[in-house]
Amino acid sequence: MSTATTNGPEAASTAAKILPGRHTPPATLIIFGAGGDLTKRLVVPALYHLAHGGKLADEFAVIGVDHNDQTTEQWCRSLTGMMQASTQPPGIDADAWSWLTHRMHYMRGDFTEPETFGHLKKLLAERSERNNTANALFYLATSDRFFGPVIEQLGRAGLTQQSEGAWRRVIVEKPFGHDLASAQALNARILKFLSEDQIYRIDHFLGKEPVQNILVLRFANGIFEPMWNRDYIDHVQITAAETVGVEGRGRFYETTGALRDMVPNHLFQLLAMIGMEPPISFDADAVRDKKTELFQAIHPISPEDAVRGQYGGGAVLGRSVVDYRHEPNVAQDSSTETYVALKLGIDNWRWAGVPFYLRTGKCLPARTTEIAIEFRCAPYVLFRDTPVERLPANILTLRIQPDEGLSVSFNVKRPGAEIEIDGVAMDFAYRDYFEPLAAVGYETLIYDCLIGDATLFQRADTVEAAWRAVEGLLGAWARNGANDFPNYVAGGAGPDAADRLLAREGRKWLPMRAEHPHRAVRPDVVTPIRSR
Ligand code: BG6
Repeated sequence: MSTATTNGPEAASTAAKILPGRHTPPATLIIFGAGGDLTKRLVVPALYHLAHGGKLADEFAVIGVDHNDQTTEQWCRSLTGMMQASTQPPGIDADAWSWLTHRMHYMRGDFTEPETFGHLKKLLAERSERNNTANALFYLATSDRFFGPVIEQLGRAGLTQQSEGAWRRVIVEKPFGHDLASAQALNARILKFLSEDQIYRIDHFLGKEPVQNILVLRFANGIFEPMWNRDYIDHVQITAAETVGVEGRGRFYETTGALRDMVPNHLFQLLAMIGMEPPISFDADAVRDKKTELFQAIHPISPEDAVRGQYGGGAVLGRSVVDYRHEPNVAQDSSTETYVALKLGIDNWRWAGVPFYLRTGKCLPARTTEIAIEFRCAPYVLFRDTPVERLPANILTLRIQPDEGLSVSFNVKRPGAEIEIDGVAMDFAYRDYFEPLAAVGYETLIYDCLIGDATLFQRADTVEAAWRAVEGLLGAWARNGANDFPNYVAGGAGPDAADRLLAREGRKWLPMRAEHPHRAVRPDVVTPIRSR
């Protein structure tokens, strides 16, 4: 992860430039799945933003590989149409786009045929000679069933072989396995052809700016870390709520479900950023050691501490939604969960006794990803003779998306003769300090691979530790199908059992909402109270 410091709001515009001024080294990026959705929606737009920002070396080139028969011109033309339609604000910089497309080449190839890799080797050798570099980054933007076979073929063709001054790296997309055994098997398979430092396992949540900011918030400020433990924190809530359903991905989702799709990967990345011990540096292994240790400290999850849900028909943001079981390619009696809520315990000195509540789901009322850290309440003694039953807790809320920023809620005296306590908040919104960056979230990730910084990528042991933490629950749910599905309406806040999970310990989920009022007063959290 690249780091830079700033001296206050006046330096904000420089801090917004997340990538340092230097170019990536000369290299060829080979994209397997060049015609796929990921390439169109995220990889190519990210490359365009890097090109536009002047981050790519002049000797940069792209080879797109896929099974469709098309020419380089046709490939680039379809990408141009997509870029023009999808960029916000509309329109692309013609010079930057032409700079990039002039460096792009399409190659037809079957991912399982050795000839593809022989052909690729020749093409790469030509490009390498022209650009005077043999550095190559292979991006597996394919279905996960190709991860093992493509890496094996790359290895057999000698394409993973590094030499003096010429690195070879591979980006592996999600999902990395679908349980502990399959993740271990995939690691073992690819580690026969690659060393660990050649593998970049992506979790795209780490490409989100406010997620990267968590370590800076914790470790570059004097005020948070001393309170970041069980002496001061009552509990933590991590929410990743989506308004979308399965969007035509019924076949994939039926064998995946919300737990596999979101928890040991995206939600655990947020958990790790909040819960890990301070690393001794921003060095990739120093950071990844601490994340792995955190996952290893997760207490086995009991099914009593987990709630699964599946949406029934309803309406989300005014759009009517059919129940999950009527989505295409979904079984009529499906037991696949589209919602999950968990209570996690972390068995270490910092967090013992502090519950971490995680929830994620489809067809919820708002699209919002946020982390709320609720501090212990102030002692009550001063208010003993008042009608006040409890003092509202201070909450630090980190808003990951869409309204990026953070706020701290606290209690103040309302001006006036009587002592009246009101809840207010200090708020930081990215949009108030920083120019919005044209970014799709993959820019930093691709940039970091090109410069060889693996901090934001998952190591084999980290991925396995995360799967190990949910393994028991996956097994318990697979053995016992759900008998109450569907159990929440599309557009509702999830199953009632998720509320009970917190209520049994006297706690409540914070409301899910996408927008926060600028002065971020949370009457739902801090109710006005009045002394006698
Ligand atoms: C993906 C999941 O990894 O992340 C999807 O497979 C989910 O089901 C998506 O919708 C959420 O990512 P984001 O960045 O839109 O919050």
